[in-house]
Amino acid sequence: MAEAKTVFIKTYGCQMNVYDSGRMADVLARDGYEVTETAEGADLVLLNTCHIREKAAEKVYSELGRIRQMKNAARAAGREMKIAVAGCVAQAEGEEIVARAPAVDVVVGPQSYHRLPAILQRAARDGHAVETEFPAENKFDHMPPVGSARTSRSVTAFLTVQEGCDKFCTFCVVPYTRGAEVSRPAGRIVEEAERLAAQGVREITLLGQNVNAYSGEAPGGRWSLARLLERLSDVPGLERLRYTTSHPRDMGDDLIAAHRDLPALMPYLHLPVQSGSDRILKAMNRRHRRDDYFRIIDRLRAARPDLALSGDFIVGFPGETDDDFEDTLRLVEAVGYAQAYSFKYSPRPGTPAAEAAAHVPEAVKSERLTRLQALLERQQKAFNGTMRGRVVDVLLEKPGRRPGQIIGRSPWLQAVQVDAPAEMIGTIVPVRIVEIGSNSLFGAFEENREPMRATA
Ligand code: SAH
Ligand code: SF4
Ligand code: F3S
Repeated sequence: MAEAKTVFIKTYGCQMNVYDSGRMADVLARDGYEVTETAEGADLVLLNTCHIREKAAEKVYSELGRIRQMKNAARAAGREMKIAVAGCVAQAEGEEIVARAPAVDVVVGPQSYHRLPAILQRAARDGHAVETEFPAENKFDHMPPVGSARTSRSVTAFLTVQEGCDKFCTFCVVPYTRGAEVSRPAGRIVEEAERLAAQGVREITLLGQNVNAYSGEAPGGRWSLARLLERLSDVPGLERLRYTTSHPRDMGDDLIAAHRDLPALMPYLHLPVQSGSDRILKAMNRRHRRDDYFRIIDRLRAARPDLALSGDFIVGFPGETDDDFEDTLRLVEAVGYAQAYSFKYSPRPGTPAAEAAAHVPEAVKSERLTRLQALLERQQKAFNGTMRGRVVDVLLEKPGRRPGQIIGRSPWLQAVQVDAPAEMIGTIVPVRIVEIGSNSLFGAFEENREPMRATA
């Protein structure tokens, strides 16, 4: 056993990075590292970064500035602090990171996390180490079991089932930073889910950049995401399943049917459309039209009438006119979202759209974003408002801010604050929603009540 060392991990970006940070902690635990909650005093500071928009990528450098000062202070006190940069900025920028921030010891891309201990050793020998190759072996085959470094028991967990993207939307860096689509074998996922359930996890969110394109090796042929969900709904202790992020093109018949047939599959779906204009969808290389999206939504709602929808939108994509933008607003009006993310288009180095001629002025992007967000906020409020007075199933997840308060989630992913004893964490209870806040709902625990299903 190696001597005890500490690692502080800071995670940016998407849920997959959250999952990866946990797995890096598992890998480092084998090497003697314990996770610590503060950067100061840590032997290793690991930034797990995101490259999706310019702002996200730039944040890393300001953080590196702060950490370099800590590193210098540690050195003055006779201690060593190593700095590692992982994630999508690491993959996209590689050596450039060390050139711009020489205090960085290690740069490691998302497909090499299983090699972290060896990379750290190389850095100790050579001054620094950069690893952004896509290795032939699959990292998941070379990682210790999930939860090796788990310090606190949690009720919900992410589980990556698919990674990478072959879609090449013209605005997006992900196909370059995460590589080609790879699905993990079904058996390994079931094992990991069983392990998580045994550790007390009640809800798993399956992750993939294109999670519904999942096609994993399994005995007797490949399994689709629907088949995998069906199998996972049999895992003892697992009560709730979710998946994200899906692409409209991969919303297969069996997956739509799963929303009707699997009670464990929660009635909430993040299905980004990005734009409501056919012209822009084409320029984005989304490879579907707005009507295709409407048809999918209709079929999903026919399968699961209380399904709530979430989405992602980009405003100000190159060439987007006022009419195109109005089409997006009309699509949002027509669909009615429970929740959504919206962004100003950010040109990313190496992507086709960044080379486009007709960039939309920043002021126009800002104005469009404000209008879109106002509409989406109204929809979210309206959706949350429908919960008032209802009794809904809440999975109690963790202690709230006040003593005696627990924070949980509704089936529609809304945060719900409930007064209930701490022993009830990890259970699903009927809760009457009495108040609608801006970030969460407030509810009272209803004894002896069967939860009703809300209808959207
Ligand atoms: N795989 C997911 C998206 C992952 S990126 C999908 O296909 O939907 C998450 C979101 O970031 C995207 O849905 C998009 O809305 C936004 N995004 C990606 N690239 C962007 C860019 N260059 N500028 C602004 N937003 C971007
Ligand atoms: Fe990016 Fe498009 Fe792939 Fe999503 S589907 S990760 S937006 S390229
Ligand atoms: Fe960001 Fe990479 Fe996720 S770019 S959104 S961390 S896949």
